[in-house]
Amino acid sequence: MSTKIYYFSGTGNCLSCAKQISSNIENSQIISIPSVMHASPKKGKIEITADKVVIIFPAYAYLAPVMVKKFLKRAVIKCQNVYIFALYATKTGGALKQVRKLVKKAGIKNIYGAKIISVENYVAIFGFPSVEEVEKKCAMQYDETNLHIEAIKNSETNITKGFHPLSPIIGFFFGSLGRRVLKTRFKVLDTCNGCGVCMKVCPAKCIVIKEGRAKFKKGCEHCQGCFNYCPKKALKFAKIKSDSDRYHNPKISTTEFCDYQCGNEKCE
Ligand SMILES: Cc1cc2nc3c(=O)[nH]c(=O)nc-3n(C[C@H](O)[C@H](O)[C@H](O)COP(=O)(O)O)c2cc1C
Ligand code: SF4
Ligand code: SF4
Repeated sequence: MSTKIYYFSGTGNCLSCAKQISSNIENSQIISIPSVMHASPKKGKIEITADKVVIIFPAYAYLAPVMVKKFLKRAVIKCQNVYIFALYATKTGGALKQVRKLVKKAGIKNIYGAKIISVENYVAIFGFPSVEEVEKKCAMQYDETNLHIEAIKNSETNITKGFHPLSPIIGFFFGSLGRRVLKTRFKVLDTCNGCGVCMKVCPAKCIVIKEGRAKFKKGCEHCQGCFNYCPKKALKFAKIKSDSDRYHNPKISTTEFCDYQCGNEKCE
C-alpha cells in the first residue's frame, strides 16, 4: 500500500504535519507541491498514482493557497482515497470545501477532510505568539494529527460541514490582488548578506539573489516563509519593527525546510 503526501508550507507547520503522518504510515513519501509545480511544464497535467493521497496546506484568507488550487486543477489522481488537511489559526472558512470540490472534479469519490489547529504564522500582522502559545498550539496540532492518522489507516471518508459566506469574496481578493500588493510591502534591509535562505524556502520561486542581496519577482503567495526564516531578520514588512521576533515551526529547521521545499534534494 503506497501513500503520497503532498504539502504546501510557508513556515513549516504543514511540513511538520506531513512528517508526522509519514512516520506513522508505512511506504509513504512526502512531496512538496511547489517542487512538482516548478518541475513540470506550466499547463501540462500532473499524474498522481498511489493507493492513498494526502494533501496538506495552510488556510489563506479562508481559502487554499493559489498554488494548491492550480496544482489540483492540473492533477490527474489515480488512487483509492484522498485525505485533505487544512492547517489554520482561527478559521478555515471555505478552504476545505474548495479543495474537496477540486479533488472530486479530479474523479475521486472517497474523500476525508479535516482542519487542524496550528500556530498563527502571520506574525508580521498579528505579532509573535508567546513561547507558551507556540508550545500549546504545536501540541494541539500534534494530537489532532494523530487522530487523523487513524482515519487514514482505517480508510475513513467523511463529509465537510460548515462554510463561511464571505470565503469566496475574501479569498478571491487575497488570491487575485491582495498577495501581490502585500508583496510590495517587503523591504530588503542593508543587513541582507545574500545568504539565499529566502530564495530556497520560497514556494513561489519569486526571490533571486542579485548583487549579493535578495530581490523579489512576481508570483508571491504571501506565505511569510522568507520573512520568518531569514537568519538576519533582513526583511521588513510594511511598518512593522524589523527587530520583532520571527516564527517558524520549532520542529522544522532552516536546512531541513530548504531541502524539502526544493524537492528533497540539496538546494543550489
Ligand atoms: C497570508 C496568510 C493568510 C492566512 N489566512 C488564514 C485564515 O484565513 N484562517 C486561519 O485560520 N489562518 C490563516 N493563516 C494562518 C495559517 O493558515 C497557519 O498559521 C498555518 O499553520 C501556516 O502553515 P505553514 O507554517 O505550513 O505555512 C494565514 C496565514 C497567512 C500567511
Ligand atoms: S535570507 Fe535574509 S539575509 Fe539571506 S538573502 Fe534572504 S533576505 Fe538576505
Ligand atoms: S516571496 Fe516570501 S512571502 Fe512570497 S511566496 Fe516567497 S517566501 Fe512566501
